[in-house]
Amino acid sequence: MAAREHFGSRVAVIFAMAGSAIGLGNIWRFPYIVGEHGGAAFIIIYVLATLLVSLPVFMAEVALGRRSRTSAYGAMSHLRPGNRLWKAAGMLAVIIPTLIASYYSVIGGWSLEFLFKSGAGQIVGTSADQVSGLFSSFISSTWGPVVMHLLFLAACAAIVASGVKSGIEKFSKVSIPILFVLIVGMMIYSVSLPGASAGVRYLLKPDFSQINVRSLAYALGQSFYSLSLGMGAIVTYGSYVSKKENIVVSSVGTAVSDLLFAILAGFAIMPAVFAAGIEPGAGPGLIFQSIPFIFSTLGSSFPALSTIVSIAFFFTIVIAAMTSCISLLEVGTSFLNEKFHVKRWKASMLLFIVCGGLGVLCSLSFGPLSGVSLIGKSIFDLFDWMCSNILLLILAFIVVIFVGFVLDKSDVRDEITNGGTMAGNRKLFKIIYFLVKWVAPVAIAVIFITNFLL
Ligand code: PHE
Repeated sequence: MAAREHFGSRVAVIFAMAGSAIGLGNIWRFPYIVGEHGGAAFIIIYVLATLLVSLPVFMAEVALGRRSRTSAYGAMSHLRPGNRLWKAAGMLAVIIPTLIASYYSVIGGWSLEFLFKSGAGQIVGTSADQVSGLFSSFISSTWGPVVMHLLFLAACAAIVASGVKSGIEKFSKVSIPILFVLIVGMMIYSVSLPGASAGVRYLLKPDFSQINVRSLAYALGQSFYSLSLGMGAIVTYGSYVSKKENIVVSSVGTAVSDLLFAILAGFAIMPAVFAAGIEPGAGPGLIFQSIPFIFSTLGSSFPALSTIVSIAFFFTIVIAAMTSCISLLEVGTSFLNEKFHVKRWKASMLLFIVCGGLGVLCSLSFGPLSGVSLIGKSIFDLFDWMCSNILLLILAFIVVIFVGFVLDKSDVRDEITNGGTMAGNRKLFKIIYFLVKWVAPVAIAVIFITNFLL
């Protein structure tokens, strides 16, 4: 078998992982949750949750991938063969990202459509009702969103097919800097709008009375999702990290980029939302209904500028969603490649077909299939709820138990400290190991219970 590909440099590792982490979660979910749950107080809790729980879990996933040198499917069963539980967990680690890629790319398709609409000048200069109507009639139609979803997915699959180094690494090396430049530009634009200060206050006003177990669970759940944990993606990317790389530094670099991007996105979006005098809404509605409305109202005086900002905005979303979707497709692709020796391009085509098909169902659940519901949820909502609220937590829990209790401590130390050669990491190891072994499982259990009981 050919030698396993790996990322070419530390920057490449961080950019690829940040590409997976920075996505729709940062752009539409984070700004909204922050405002709803106590502004700056929530940001503090979120940073703590990331530092104390998500970051150590992230390191555990990278270490697991690098130690086993196999994709998320085989990682645990390779290190501890013969146990059915690790095999089943491996299967779960392939199924979850594949399911997520199916509905994630539907939203990717919507973003693509809005990028085209912005380019065609269909957004700037329309009324609020028109923009809202544009969105609802688009997502509930049959062909338009399906075609866009398939187009988006095909672009991601093509990059995955090109390989770890010449596809994923190259694409993220170009896109991550672009994403940061664009989001900073939009933040400056947004904060400079008249009336923007209400949005800044919405994000920053610390309201500690809002902090309770529920908001804590929100912070943890969001930071897990945002760092792509519990989905096999980071384990798989970890398997492409070279033995010389410093896992602690790469993980911290990724977490800081993800956090920074989420905060910048908050300041790019909320001040503009308030400047336009609209209620910040939850979910995709925020980016597809509120934001275009902002461009339409603010655009009446500077149509050209608004068109450019609107294109930049949707371009950012498309690219951010693409780098995340790529990491999701990579899990299944490397699984097929390793387990069944299917060539990369064939494997990614197969994934395109599977995710494409499932995604069509998700897409149609906003239109012709809107009547189909299971446990009170549409097909799309069911996929999202099952993956982000249940399966992700189960897999993350299994991974931390595996790294904390099943692997030998010396093996974990070996990965985190590169065989003891990294003095700084040797000192940190005790803390990291404690957080992975004791704090993370309890935290995951708390989110799980809170999601169901409260
Ligand atoms: N982290 C991504 C986001 O914030 C979502 C994602 C999860 C991507 C898991 C890949 C794997 O949108």
